[in-house]
Amino acid sequence: MDVEAVLQKVLQRIRPTDEERAFVEGLMRELEDIAEETIESLGLDVKPYFVGSLAKDTYLAGDHDVDLFLAFPLDTPLKELRERGLELGRAIAERLGSYEIAYAEHPYVRALYRGVKVDLVPCYDVGSWRDVKTAVDRSILHNRWVLENLRGRNDEVRLLKRFLKGINAYGSEIYIRGFSGYLAEILVIKYGSFLEVLKNSDFMLRQKIIDPGNWLKREHETAMKTVRREAEADRPLIVIDPVDPRRNVAANLGWERYGFFYFRARQFLENPAEEFFFPRGRKRGNYLSELRRKGSHLVTLVFGAPDLVDDILLPQLERSARGFERALSREGFNILGWNVGHEGGKAFIMLEVDRRERERVRIKPGPEFFTERGLDFYRKNERVWLGGKRLFAEKAVRESIIEVILELLGKNQVALGKSVRENIRDARIMLDYVPKELEDEAYLFLSREKWNLKG
Ligand code: UTP
Ligand code: MN
Repeated sequence: MDVEAVLQKVLQRIRPTDEERAFVEGLMRELEDIAEETIESLGLDVKPYFVGSLAKDTYLAGDHDVDLFLAFPLDTPLKELRERGLELGRAIAERLGSYEIAYAEHPYVRALYRGVKVDLVPCYDVGSWRDVKTAVDRSILHNRWVLENLRGRNDEVRLLKRFLKGINAYGSEIYIRGFSGYLAEILVIKYGSFLEVLKNSDFMLRQKIIDPGNWLKREHETAMKTVRREAEADRPLIVIDPVDPRRNVAANLGWERYGFFYFRARQFLENPAEEFFFPRGRKRGNYLSELRRKGSHLVTLVFGAPDLVDDILLPQLERSARGFERALSREGFNILGWNVGHEGGKAFIMLEVDRRERERVRIKPGPEFFTERGLDFYRKNERVWLGGKRLFAEKAVRESIIEVILELLGKNQVALGKSVRENIRDARIMLDYVPKELEDEAYLFLSREKWNLKG
């Protein structure tokens, strides 16, 4: 199929229908009225703003979470913004239906209204980057910038977002390290279309710096500071935020996700297909045959997952896996790879290792040399020496990796993430065996299908 036909087919699935648009617009109007009434009834000086992909009309069909920001005057003390903001959020949410408190830099209310998730986020009513005080304040500026610059290329953004989702490179959360929605918007604005962004995947990497706000001219010192800092951190891209010269929009983009985008972009341009946007289920296979094929071994630790959000839990699991990697290599095992995750309240760490046991020499004390048993000891052992009148010899022992892990844990010699440390100590440890629900995961890990660039 030619590329245009593929894009048309994809667009049919990701472009909101007129009905959906009408629903979303109605929803926003209702929410705005409710917010304004509540603000007035509490006698607050707050402006409600819609931000995020709904306000920018870059949302994907069926994916319409509402971001409603509650902007307080700049002279509001931070403590007051936090308290009043939460109070206002609650008051609005009471009128919407069920809600919960979520935590980012400061707490905010997450409500459910007509089946749609509505985030009520307090922030400052900023006019420029110099006013920015909290991490969420820029969103209002982002929104304005995108609306001014996108000029009808909304569907191109949709294609890019869906493509990034399809190849598993969308989302700036630290456990994904992919492209944020805002970064996708900037790239479309910079290169003009979805296909141009793909065609430039190599060029932009070499050029390194993207500066759509012209900050290197307008605020040279500040922008250069950002460039130096981010170059030092070895980011794949430095995209100076068009609304704030101090920030790299791609600060959370990791090399692996960029690499995925890089290879998939080439593959798509060569062989366009809908599967890039909507991949079929992951490959399946048998992890035991993988172990036989590779001649390696698999250690799996399964333990209760503490009740934490992914942003916190996954880095903790990764840190722990690296801790095992370091500790076990000191003990003579070679770690070929690791994999972490959680599901249904259980967390796991998988370690692929080159051997299941190691040989070690122990010193074996023997009897006195001038006895019958001494002579026997002398004959049976290869290296024998004296300590006073007693004989000593070397003895080779085999230790299984599980024994070594238990010993390391017991002696506190594995660097573990602190919020999972206690759970890991109580882990079930398995060798070359995983529980049924982890069989697919073990296969994807051992075969590296999980990260295969060519799959
Ligand atoms: P979202 O992650 O909800 O992005 O962040 P989005 O643009 O609405 O895209 P989707 O369709 O929901 O995936 C909302 C706003 O938060 C800011 C941006 O201003 C964005 O519009 N943000 C979020 C960032 O600036 N950087 C990030 O990494 C994440
Ligand atoms: Mn959003």
